Amino acid sequence: MEEAPEMIQEEAIQTDTKLILIENAMIIQGENIILDKVSFQIGAGEFVYFLGRTGSGKSSLLKMLYADLPFEGEAGMVAGYDLKNIRSREIPLLRRKLGMVFQDFQLLTDRTVAENLHFVLAATGWRDRQQMSDRIDEVLSITGVLHKKDKMPHQLSGGEQQKVVIARALLNNPDLLLVDEPTGNLDPQSSEEVLNTLVALKNSGKTILMATHDMLVVEKYPARTLWFNDGRVTDNQ
Ligand SMILES: Nc1ncnc2c1ncn2[C@@H]1O[C@H](COP(=O)(O)OP(=O)(O)OP(=O)(O)O)[C@@H](O)[C@H]1O
Ligand SMILES: [Mg+2]
Repeated sequence: MEEAPEMIQEEAIQTDTKLILIENAMIIQGENIILDKVSFQIGAGEFVYFLGRTGSGKSSLLKMLYADLPFEGEAGMVAGYDLKNIRSREIPLLRRKLGMVFQDFQLLTDRTVAENLHFVLAATGWRDRQQMSDRIDEVLSITGVLHKKDKMPHQLSGGEQQKVVIARALLNNPDLLLVDEPTGNLDPQSSEEVLNTLVALKNSGKTILMATHDMLVVEKYPARTLWFNDGRVTDNQ
C-alpha cells in the first residue's frame, strides 16, 4: 500500500501569534446568509485549506477576511486589525499585510511580467527604481519564474501565470497569503508545481489560507482543513 502523504504541518501549532481569530461570525451576500456561527483561529505559519462545494461560501469568507464584506459577529481579528471597528482608510493597510491570489485579480495583459509587478510596487508607495527592480527579481525567483520576467502574460502557461500572481502577492512581504482556487484551470502537473510553490512559502514562514474544491490536491498535500458545508464551517483539527 502506498504511504499516506505527510501532513504539511503535523506538529501542534505552538504560537501566541494568532493571525486570524473569528468568533461567531455570519457571512451575508445580498439577502442571503451564506455562513453562520463561524468560529476559528489561525496561528502564524499554518497552512489551512478552505474546502467545500461550489457556492459553499469559501470566497465569501475570504472576502470578509480582507474587509470586502462587512463583518458581522462577536470578534474578528486579522493581522492585528479589528474587522468590527476597522475604518475605511485602514482597509488598504490591512490589505497590504495580506497577499492575495485570486482568479478575478489576474495579470494585466498589456504589459510584461516585470511591468505587472512594477505597477503594484508603484501603487503601494515604492519609488526607488533599483529597489523596485531588485524586489521584482527576488519574488520572481522565489516562485521560480524569474526567467519569464520580460514575457507578456499570454506567453506564459497557466501554471507560470499563477506563479507570477503568487510572486506579485509577495511583493510587500505579507505574513498571510489568501489564495482562492489557485489550481482551478490547471492541469495536474501545473497544479502540483503551484502547490509546491505554496508549500515552500509555508516552510519559509508564511501563513497560507487556500480555498479549493480540488480534492486531489488536498489528498496529495494534506493539511488542516476547514470544511464548508450546509452554511457551517467545521475544522478537522
Ligand atoms: N456578490 C454577491 N451577491 C449575492 N450573492 C453572492 C455574491 N457573491 C456570491 N454570492 C453567493 O454566495 C454564495 C457563496 O458564494 P462563494 O463565491 O463564496 O462560494 P465558493 O465556495 O467560493 O464557491 P466556488 O467553489 O464556486 O468558488 C453562493 O450562493 C453565491 O451565489
Ligand atoms: Mg470561490
